[in-house]
Amino acid sequence: MSAKMDLIFFSPTGSTGEVFDELQRVLAEDAKGTWEVAAANVTMAANRGVTRSYGAEDALVVGFPVYAGRVPVPFLQELQGLRGQDTPVAIVASFGNRHFDDALLEAADTLAANGFVVVAAAAFSCEHSFTAKVGTGRPDDADLAIAADFARQLLAKLAEPAPAAVEVPGNSPYTQAPPMSIFTPLTSDDCIGCLACVEVCPTAAISSDDPAVVSASCIGCGACINACAVDAKIYPAEVITPIIGMLEANCTARREPVLVL
Ligand SMILES: Cc1cc2nc3c(=O)[nH]c(=O)nc-3n(C[C@H](O)[C@H](O)[C@H](O)COP(=O)(O)O)c2cc1C
Repeated sequence: MSAKMDLIFFSPTGSTGEVFDELQRVLAEDAKGTWEVAAANVTMAANRGVTRSYGAEDALVVGFPVYAGRVPVPFLQELQGLRGQDTPVAIVASFGNRHFDDALLEAADTLAANGFVVVAAAAFSCEHSFTAKVGTGRPDDADLAIAADFARQLLAKLAEPAPAAVEVPGNSPYTQAPPMSIFTPLTSDDCIGCLACVEVCPTAAISSDDPAVVSASCIGCGACINACAVDAKIYPAEVITPIIGMLEANCTARREPVLVL
C-alpha cells in the first residue's frame, strides 16, 4: 500500500498554486506506487479547518505566499491544526522578489512543534501581488524547472532510511509585521455589485449585501482586486504607494529560487 503525501497550499492570487501544480505533476508521476499524492488547496475558508493527522510513514508538502516576511495568518492557523508523528515535511514559500525573511522559519517552527520533521524547504520568487513590475511573469519556465528538480530531490531524500532535518533560513524573533488589514481595499463607485470579489475572498471578508463593506478579517491579499472586472477594488493609496515605490526602486533584479535539502 502507498503512503500518503499531501500537498497543502494557500494561494490567493495564484502564484504559489502555479509552483504547486508543477510539484504535484512531478511528484505524482515520479512517486507512482510509493506515494499516494493528493493536493489540498486551502485558499478558501470553506476548505480550511479540516483536522489532518499524519504518521511517520506519510509526508507533507505545505506552501504559502510570504506576507511582510511572515506566514499569512489564515495559513499559520491551518499549520497549527496539523498533527504529525515524526512526519517528514517540505515547506515551500512564494515571495514577490523582495525577500521571504522569516516566513520559512516561522512555518518550520510551527510544524516542528506539532510533530513534523522539516526535511526540505524552498522559496520561489514570483510576481509581486502589489505591482506587476516586480517579479514580472514569475514563476517562469526556469522557476518551474527548478521546482521540478526540488520535487525529485525531495523524493530521493524521502527514500533515505531517516531523512535528516534541515536548517531553515530565517531569524527568531521573527520580523514584526503590521496587521494585514492596513491593506484592506477600498471600493469605488464603479462597483457594479457582481460579487466576483465575494466569491474569491479567502477570508470571507466581503459582504455579499454590500461589497463595499470589508471586515477586519481582510488580509490584503489582492484576490478581489484581480477578480474585479471594472477595477472598483483598489488598495488604499496612502499605504500602497510608498511600498510600491520602494519595491519598484529596489526589488526588480531577478532573485533566484532558494532550495534547502
Ligand atoms: C499583504 C502582502 C504582503 C506581502 N509581503 C511580501 C514580502 O514581505 N516579501 C515579498 O517578497 N513579497 C511579499 N508579497 C508578495 C507575495 O508574497 C507574492 O506576490 C506571492 O507570490 C503571492 O502568492 P499567491 O499568488 O499565491 O497569492 C506580499 C503580498 C501581499 C499581498
